[in-house]
Amino acid sequence: MVNAGHCPPPVVAAIAAQAAQMIHCSFNVASYDLYMQLAEKLATLFPHGDHTKVMLTNSGAESVENAIKIARQATGRPAIICYDSAFHGRSMMAMTLTSKVGYKLGCGPYAPEVYRLPFPDYYKLNNGKSEDDFSAIHLRDLEEFFNTNIPSNQVAAIIMEPVQGEGGFNVVPKKYIQELRKICDKYGILLILDEVQSGFGRTGKWAAYEHFDVVPDISTWAKSMGSGMPIGCVIGKADIMDSCKPSTIGGTYPGNPVCCAASLATLKYMEEIDINALGEKVGNIVRERFNKMKEQFSAIGDVRGLGAMMAFELVKNNDPHQPDADTCKKLIAYCANHGLIVINAGVNGNVIRILSPLVIEENLLNKGLDIIENGLKELLG
Ligand SMILES: Cc1ncc(COP(=O)(O)O)c(C=O)c1O
Repeated sequence: MVNAGHCPPPVVAAIAAQAAQMIHCSFNVASYDLYMQLAEKLATLFPHGDHTKVMLTNSGAESVENAIKIARQATGRPAIICYDSAFHGRSMMAMTLTSKVGYKLGCGPYAPEVYRLPFPDYYKLNNGKSEDDFSAIHLRDLEEFFNTNIPSNQVAAIIMEPVQGEGGFNVVPKKYIQELRKICDKYGILLILDEVQSGFGRTGKWAAYEHFDVVPDISTWAKSMGSGMPIGCVIGKADIMDSCKPSTIGGTYPGNPVCCAASLATLKYMEEIDINALGEKVGNIVRERFNKMKEQFSAIGDVRGLGAMMAFELVKNNDPHQPDADTCKKLIAYCANHGLIVINAGVNGNVIRILSPLVIEENLLNKGLDIIENGLKELLG
């Protein structure tokens, strides 16, 4: 997941220059300019209300862990609500918030005070309803959840990926997330949006949440932020971030100087090449090709996504509830044998998603898509 590509020259140069100067300086002990510069840049790119603060981390999972700690400290409440099909990482809290059991086998007991809602998965659950009516039903269920599962005044935060990544590129309906924002405000619950996979141009915008005109209280980031170097962050409204008690967040390596240099160079490069326009362009090409494949192959039940987060779902008998993991597995093997690496997604392992760098040349992208199409032809006739 390197949106700006593998080894962009300015990023490589920034890493080398910084490594020659200072590799390590624990921010817990002594602050340094690079950390501050990066935090300021991120706060400018992703304002969370009038005043925004940023904490750097080593990974997506660590961002999620800290977002939860901060939400609990800010609200004084214990409970966290998450969603079916979510993926938030492999540390204990992040794994608990993750849905697919295959990611968690034998690792329990999991963290307490985590509650799960069905993700408003329009493809699988719409029952012929319009997207707005469908959203209204799910929101009513959430209000009901506060009576049947956990009172709203015990809930610190609701965490959601605006486009589920490992879950199969399920896009949250606009109406749902906009109303969810209002429900959170009504009950003093913090809205945490996990942008680890969807951030930094992947959906054609810096943040996927910008598509929905919603601003989270806290957000979590990593992956493309450092072009492959281990760096992530938590961004939040300043008063929320300031509620952290001394010594409760941080660590030896978060915001390591070399990673900060890589990230600053990555963000500058992303601005220069207009990463969001590239995300949109890649997304348009893939969407068009996938839609054509859907017309050709009835096993493709759904084509969906936002920007370059594009996927198709393989099903049997045109039924969203009959996932075809077997064909998906065979297609992945076909692609591997023809020089293309693709991995599955979705809790049932029946979704093919595209996660190419956004700087990919058009002919190379089409060559990869040709391999997928040829694989479908060979497998499905
Ligand atoms: C949405 C989301 N959150 C969190 C994570 C965890 O990130 P990391 O692997 O850097 O810990 C991932 C990784 O795939 C992710 O997609």
